[in-house]
Amino acid sequence: MEKTLSIIKPDGVSRGLIGEVISRFEKNKIKIIAMKMIHMTKIQAQGFYAVHKERPFFGSLTDFMSSGPVVVMVLEGDKVISNNRELMGATNYKDAAPGTIRADFATEIEKNVVHGSDSPQSAAFEIGFFFNSFEIAG
Ligand code: RTP
Ligand code: MG
Repeated sequence: MEKTLSIIKPDGVSRGLIGEVISRFEKNKIKIIAMKMIHMTKIQAQGFYAVHKERPFFGSLTDFMSSGPVVVMVLEGDKVISNNRELMGATNYKDAAPGTIRADFATEIEKNVVHGSDSPQSAAFEIGFFFNSFEIAG
């Protein structure tokens, strides 16, 4: 069974989309095996998105991700990394397939409601960034 990290971003939490996102996971046989709400500092957001530190949007992205509470989850399932990315839709909501979370709810390229790990390597790093082994029920 594969694992991935999901985040409901500050826009998703503040707009009341926690239940909506979780229900999409549950309807698609994706199991939640760890979950908590946190409010990242700017430094923590910079650490989490370190892969993007050279990108022009790094400052704005880390301001946004530390602007309010987020819900972080570990998801488990067969091919859950790609299945979750499919449920999320493309980074830019304008390119996201109809019926995906980002197509239905995102308002800007940055304010796109959810994050999902994009590879087994990033999933391992991102899960370890937020959770220790005692906090994961799977
Ligand atoms: P994520 O990491 O959040 O799951 O999103 P992703 O893989 O679909 O996209 P990625 O390229 O990793 O970008 C991370 C997040 O940075 C913001 N972004 N802003 N202004 C821009 O051009 C721009 N491009 C990306 C988005 O919030 C994106 O999800
Ligand atoms: Mg990414």
